[in-house]
Amino acid sequence: MVTFETDRLVLRSLKREDIDSVMTFWGNEEVMKYCGGAGSRERELRSIEFYMNLQKEKGFSPYIVIIKDSNEVIGACGFNPAEDEHEIELIYHFAEKYWGRGYATEAANGCINYVRENLKINKIVASISPGNSSSKKVLEKLGFEYIGMKWFEDMNEEEPCYELRVKE
Ligand SMILES: CC(C)(COP(=O)(O)OP(=O)(O)OC[C@H]1O[C@@H](n2cnc3c(N)ncnc32)[C@H](O)[C@@H]1OP(=O)(O)O)[C@@H](O)C(=O)NCCC(=O)NCCS
Repeated sequence: MVTFETDRLVLRSLKREDIDSVMTFWGNEEVMKYCGGAGSRERELRSIEFYMNLQKEKGFSPYIVIIKDSNEVIGACGFNPAEDEHEIELIYHFAEKYWGRGYATEAANGCINYVRENLKINKIVASISPGNSSSKKVLEKLGFEYIGMKWFEDMNEEEPCYELRVKE
């Protein structure tokens, strides 16, 4: 079980028992409107299984984000595999009532530090849906650099792509 902390948050690897919490963001249409839409409970149970295996095999995955003081589960933040095996993709999804309090930036910074300290990864990549201004802002605050537009078959759109070098 991977666990790490930031000032206000605890992040840990996913468990099957997280399904009810996970549905408040991955199962929510408003949260997932730029990310392929809300998933059913069955789909998100499969996602949890997939991410538990990913963590075991590759040492990274999306992590559950919990507020230290109140124990509330507020979202998920972490990594998907990228096309290049030396790269990983940053993702973050938070339940709507927790937006605008700096949690995404804080959680993502914690994840990036975890990668720097524990994994042999050169680069973190991210892409955003063109209308997703708050996600763009988060990437800029994290120090990601815009590298260009790319066509995504699964999203059926061209998206701006960003990267952050974690090792020279
Ligand atoms: C994107 C998301 C993770 C941001 O979470 P958050 O905890 O609100 O992020 P933060 O508070 O750290 O930062 C958000 C920034 O965007 C800004 N922002 C919010 N709405 C905005 C908008 N419509 N236009 C421009 N900036 C906006 C905020 O003011 C803040 O910047 P600031 O710190 O300079 O004030 C959250 O909105 C979310 O879960 N969205 C749905 C899922 C998603 O789209 N994920 C990204 C794709 S993987």
